[in-house]
Amino acid sequence: MKTLLLVGATGLVGLEVVRQALADRTIERVVALTRRPLELRHLRLENQVVDFDALPTDAPWWNVDAVICTLGTTMRQAGSRAAFGKVDHDYVLAVARRARAHGTEVFALTSSLGAKVSSGNFYLRTKGETERDLAAEGFASLTFVRPSLIGGKRENQRWVEALGLKVFALFAPALPRRYRIAPAERIAASLLAAVRTAQSGVRVVESEAI
Ligand SMILES: NC(=O)c1ccc[n+]([C@@H]2O[C@H](COP(=O)([O-])OP(=O)(O)OC[C@H]3O[C@@H](n4cnc5c(N)ncnc54)[C@H](OP(=O)(O)O)[C@@H]3O)[C@@H](O)[C@H]2O)c1
Repeated sequence: MKTLLLVGATGLVGLEVVRQALADRTIERVVALTRRPLELRHLRLENQVVDFDALPTDAPWWNVDAVICTLGTTMRQAGSRAAFGKVDHDYVLAVARRARAHGTEVFALTSSLGAKVSSGNFYLRTKGETERDLAAEGFASLTFVRPSLIGGKRENQRWVEALGLKVFALFAPALPRRYRIAPAERIAASLLAAVRTAQSGVRVVESEAI
């Protein structure tokens, strides 16, 4: 894999993917699609600031070997189910379809522990629907990395998550591996490993394997 398109580069996991991808000299170009400019500058990093409601269809930078998507919002940030679904489902599919139309065969997504189309929980159901609809896009290699609670230092730490991380850390030894905190660096490494190896078919990396 020589060229990588990343969506979500301003986020906790996304920034870690950028760091690890730039440290890997075999990756010649990292294209980061963001809605606000990235502060990070690097010779092999190309930042495309876009409007996700009006993504271009024919930009040359869709032409990449692989896509990693770490895009996502919260119900609190989004404000409604429709607004949440637009980010965590519609934007992800819009990116996938454009890259696929330009010949990209490899895609990896940060999904979530418990993602399931039949889930009674709206968040997990949406993640499940995103996985299902991505699987219909015909990528040769498609990976869903499903973390439990994500660990790492956020710019604007959400207090519920900060509390959750503390509680999880406290009870970690008693928890099954699947429910322990998944550090952002390890999620990023799993996503990058998935697009590097590009195993054919659809793969799920559950939280305990991250
Ligand atoms: N937090 C957890 O514990 C947890 C657990 C399991 C799964 N996940 C999933 O893991 C993924 C990555 O999580 P994370 O913690 O790295 O997320 P994050 O730090 O909140 O980053 C989310 C990324 O999505 C972008 N984004 C959000 N709303 C957007 C919008 N309306 N338009 C364009 N871009 C938008 C953000 O851009 P801006 O910087 O411009 O806002 C940012 O780049 C998400 O899909 C999340 O649902 C999270």
